[in-house]
Amino acid sequence: MKKIAIMPGDGIGPEIIEEGKKVIDAACNITGLDIDWEYYNNGSEHYLKTGELITEDTLKELKKKDAIYFGAIGDPRVAPGILEKGILLKMRFYFDQYVNLRPIVSYPNVPCPLKGKTYKDINFHVIRENTEDFYIGIGGRFKGTMNKDQLEVIRDLYEVKFNMGIDIDRPEEIAYQIGMISREGSKRVIRYAFELAKKKGKKRVTSVDKANVLTNIYSLWRDVFEEVAKDYPGYETEFAFVDAITMWFVKQPQWYQVVVAPNMFGDIITDLGAMIQGGLGLAAGGNINPDGVSMFEPIHGSAPKYKGKNVSNPLATILSGVMMLETIGEPKTASLIEKAVVKVLEDGKVRTQDLGGASKTTEVGDEIVKKMKE
Ligand code: IPM
Ligand code: MG
Repeated sequence: MKKIAIMPGDGIGPEIIEEGKKVIDAACNITGLDIDWEYYNNGSEHYLKTGELITEDTLKELKKKDAIYFGAIGDPRVAPGILEKGILLKMRFYFDQYVNLRPIVSYPNVPCPLKGKTYKDINFHVIRENTEDFYIGIGGRFKGTMNKDQLEVIRDLYEVKFNMGIDIDRPEEIAYQIGMISREGSKRVIRYAFELAKKKGKKRVTSVDKANVLTNIYSLWRDVFEEVAKDYPGYETEFAFVDAITMWFVKQPQWYQVVVAPNMFGDIITDLGAMIQGGLGLAAGGNINPDGVSMFEPIHGSAPKYKGKNVSNPLATILSGVMMLETIGEPKTASLIEKAVVKVLEDGKVRTQDLGGASKTTEVGDEIVKKMKE
């Protein structure tokens, strides 16, 4: 028996996660896997009603689960950052889910937006570091008089670069945000990337950074990448600057096999990755702690304007469910679902509007269930 926490969240979250659960339940019926689901209502409604994001007690309960299945977060009634940092990032950090695994994989009969490319050219994995970099939440924003400590930081920042004629003792307004990379933090995620390459029979691992400008943190990242690579002879390795890789993803996606990136660049390039694989409707993600509790979610957001319309593509969520089952050691149930997804896409009859169809969210789930039973 597997214990899974299900957190639908905001916007289209509840609709898409219900399809994910429907499909997993149907697959379990066939394979004999027993899942004990428990719902958690954290999200904007709960926050607006109670002022609570996610409590320590809830986090402790979640710690006893085999996995967390997550819908989406974000609501126009709440200022940006509150729900994201208070719930989603909170869980990623609390459970030390240091691997954000995002397959950039396409499927038959999914239109590829890149000229001259087909789904066969889009087949790689981005591993995004998930607990460091500019996501650590350290920074400040000041107006008026600053205290001595604040001044020290600002003075340093300015002396390094600008002589802008700003009175740094009394600037009009100033803000800064600090990124942090640690040797341990980089090592574990880069190692995971090489291990994934090994598992998937891939031969090339690409490291992303901006070491030509952010020389402090990304030179450490590079050093660690080179050190870890020594333990994996026989793998081709390369460095790519983040700006350049966005170009190459579009120009030559077939080059990439396994790509490992620091947190923020990983965030950015995986939205681009989602587009080349056929859209956000297909992009699955896993926040993984290989020795702890992992959380699985589509990489798209809560899409408030589609909320309750039953038109959103549930495939990203369903494919995140596949990753969840693989990660918790249920490959049979996972592959049953994945094969059915491929069949439904191949058929092309049932698909949502983002893929050029007119089917409802619920019809996609139903069709996958039907295919699994066949
Ligand atoms: C993602 C999202 C999140 C992130 C937001 C919602 C905090 O963009 O999962 O890619 O930046 O990690
Ligand atoms: Mg993102």
